[in-house]
Amino acid sequence: MVRGRTACLALLGLLFGMAILPSWSATRVGPEGGGFKFSVAGKVSADGKGVTAADGKLVAMGQRKLELKKRGPSSGVMLNGRDDWLVVAKDHNTILGDLPKRAFSVSAWVLPDAAQDWGAFFSCMQDDGNTEYGIILGFIKDKFSFALSTKGADDGDGKLTYLKAPAAFAPGRWYLVTGTYDGATMRLYVNGKQVAESAEQSGDVNYPPSPATVALGCYLDATETYPMTGLLGEISMTHEAMTAEQVATAFKPHADAVNWDPLPPPKTPFVVAPFLNYATMNSITIAWETAEDAGSYVEYGTSLPMTEAKESAESKTLHHVELTGLKPSQQYFYRVTSRRGEEVISRSEVYTFRTAAGPGEAIAFTIIGDTQNNPGVTAKIAEHVYALRPDFQIHVGDIVGKGSDKREWTEEFFKPSHTLMSRICVYPAIGNHEEDTHWFYDYFALPNPENYYAFKYGDAEVFMVDTNKPILPGTPQYQWLEKALGESKALWKFVCHHHPIYSSDNDDHGDTYRGPSTWGGMQHRPLAALYEKHNVDFVFNGHIHLYERTHPIRGGKVDPTGVRYITTGGSGGGLEAFAPSRTWFMAQGRITHHYSYVTVIGRQLSFKVFDLDNRLFDSFEMSK
Ligand SMILES: [Fe+2]
Ligand SMILES: [Fe+2]
Repeated sequence: MVRGRTACLALLGLLFGMAILPSWSATRVGPEGGGFKFSVAGKVSADGKGVTAADGKLVAMGQRKLELKKRGPSSGVMLNGRDDWLVVAKDHNTILGDLPKRAFSVSAWVLPDAAQDWGAFFSCMQDDGNTEYGIILGFIKDKFSFALSTKGADDGDGKLTYLKAPAAFAPGRWYLVTGTYDGATMRLYVNGKQVAESAEQSGDVNYPPSPATVALGCYLDATETYPMTGLLGEISMTHEAMTAEQVATAFKPHADAVNWDPLPPPKTPFVVAPFLNYATMNSITIAWETAEDAGSYVEYGTSLPMTEAKESAESKTLHHVELTGLKPSQQYFYRVTSRRGEEVISRSEVYTFRTAAGPGEAIAFTIIGDTQNNPGVTAKIAEHVYALRPDFQIHVGDIVGKGSDKREWTEEFFKPSHTLMSRICVYPAIGNHEEDTHWFYDYFALPNPENYYAFKYGDAEVFMVDTNKPILPGTPQYQWLEKALGESKALWKFVCHHHPIYSSDNDDHGDTYRGPSTWGGMQHRPLAALYEKHNVDFVFNGHIHLYERTHPIRGGKVDPTGVRYITTGGSGGGLEAFAPSRTWFMAQGRITHHYSYVTVIGRQLSFKVFDLDNRLFDSFEMSK
């Protein structure tokens, strides 16, 4: 230990916050008190390639002319990742007095622009097979790292311990990375906070037996050269192990700078803010609309900062980016940006989504319908639904009142649904009010042909059907549905389509105050036999703006083994009414705006319906 001595080597320093051009400034101080102190904030040498101390002594030499760059709140030497780095000494033996013998702290104020296999801010090392010597402060792929070899851990040809930060860094942002060693414990700090430690090393630093380059901005030994891309703001080394408190204090002046976001502010708000489409166990599509043509860029990852991104440079206003290769049942963070060259047109905040649950996992979902032309009710229900954090939501159609009116989509549906739809995936069925217009197909990213499709979640499979189009036996849609139901291995089968097969409505299927009713659309009634054949558990419908649950129906009669039909079209459209007398199939009904909530845990299912004030008004359980 060099205790009682103030040994310090600040190799390179930059002044921060310079108004116009950042510049170097440096001082070198000789022996002081009982120890050696050497601090430098260098200046560029006459040829522009090196950094010199105030006494003119060269501190570090660049590979070519050094370029200083300001990025956000701070500045640094720009390194290109190819042939740029700084050399303090070609042979570490020539500056042994400046290198720590035992205890030390090495700290780097840096902006890495990219992750790479190996990277270093400070490097004086040899790592070749089992030959492992020296000190490295840098990064391994996208994680900051601090490595050290000491005499106490020497296994004959040196032994390095690599500490690694658990979280990835975000390229393009400023970080303070600090490694400390007190002769017994090595610690790695990121932005003033300890992220890793090890007691594997002990005693004096074990420097390479043959001459090693002391380099800044490059992971460098006799056999490997990995230059980094980004900015080197300041690198310092003291011959004392800083305490956690000292590291935190040293970080304080940088605290604001690490929060600086490299992306410039967006130019315009979204026409439609990001919303989620068709989540599967491994994929999801993020959709949004911008006011101007621009490219599509989605950053995502399982923790912040996000480290993955998908981009399409194609310029457009309606954006769909499919993220694939995702982990099932996993929360992800995401943020979308639309840009044209360097100009950011629109950019979202960071949202989350969760990929679909697999078989055996419990799920919860909500069902709404007929939001048409009532943004106030739509917003209120979306708020109640989001509070329940369902896995997903089904919309049984009549999303808008007039499908060809774009404003109804953007202002009356997407805007009031934003908080929900940015985090919870909504699976829509097409209603008659969509008028089969292109907006339904344009906005939602669904498997072709989009007006009918299926999806799986947990132990359930959901079949979305278009009852505006031909659906009777012999039609392509019927053939698809028959095949899909027949092939389904799901424990629970739910079918959704806009028009109800059974309804106790007063006037949609005959004026019940004047005469008989068919109690549902006869053009759709033949589907019941298909559902009964394949043991569909529930059919969810809308179109009638009220709530109705039927008894289980099989063969046109109430039968415990039958199919339950739920009309849940109460999320905005003007309310309708029941016939004056009860029908034979009605189990429960209520004329009110509402939403339905289903949980499935293995063979147990629970069904609940809430009104606009979140009061529960229907509930039942079933098991199989
Ligand atoms: Fe409707
Ligand atoms: Fe409708």
